[in-house]
Amino acid sequence: MNDKERPIGFFDSGVGGISVLKESLKVLPNEDFVYFGDSLNAPYGIKEVNEVKRLTFNAVDFLLGKGVKAVVIACNTATSAAIDDLRERYKDIPIIGIEPALKPAVEISRGKSIIIMATPMTLAEKKFSNLMKRYNKEVNMIPLPCAGLVELIESGIVEGEQIESYLKDKLKEFMHLDIASIVLGCTHYPFIKNELVKIVGDKTFIIDGSIGTVNQLKRQLNCNSLLNEKKTEGIVTIYSSSTTSCSSTSSNMIDLSYRLLKS
Ligand code: DGL
Repeated sequence: MNDKERPIGFFDSGVGGISVLKESLKVLPNEDFVYFGDSLNAPYGIKEVNEVKRLTFNAVDFLLGKGVKAVVIACNTATSAAIDDLRERYKDIPIIGIEPALKPAVEISRGKSIIIMATPMTLAEKKFSNLMKRYNKEVNMIPLPCAGLVELIESGIVEGEQIESYLKDKLKEFMHLDIASIVLGCTHYPFIKNELVKIVGDKTFIIDGSIGTVNQLKRQLNCNSLLNEKKTEGIVTIYSSSTTSCSSTSSNMIDLSYRLLKS
């Protein structure tokens, strides 16, 4: 197998990165993908930074063992904790991260407010405060840590009363503001976008970082001459560190991942 034919590795703490993989299938339909979700150790966003680093290195080693030609860290939390160290260690392979999509949100929200929903770790890390500093003169930025939301999504709950009341409670103190956009700074959150729209209405833009990440992946593959030239549709293989049942709605994490991929 030549390098171009090797698969692309995707990693998240659980099923969240499937939201980025979904976009990748549209942009790179002829590529093969290997996805690893560390559901056994999710959520990452409330752990110690060094622990997330350790888990992320283990996950990348697992993907490299599968012969991947590039790695997408499809997790904002793992990106903020480990991306610099990963690039330092694995110099021979493109490593693409994801971060809260503040730039497009600021462009459409000048003079108004933006809410950034993400895990406590993503919002506490230096990477995010640097990002905030770049834009906070142009808009009113409201970082909103959402502990507990990843757990609901990991257990297969993406709609209904529990998600609705979680979101209403989180957002209630901001409902009087002129919120132009909400940035989904965690790859799990696009799966609850419909519930979010019900609460904030369809005039508020809801933005996530997946398109920017996938475009960056394509650019990196292109400039490293790694784009797959085959004409047939690519294959997706999903691995999870946990295959145990998390709720009555998901028989296991791999089933849930495929279900979300097709949703
Ligand atoms: N999908 C991960 C992210 O983008 C969730 C992190 C977690 O497991 O808490 O941050």
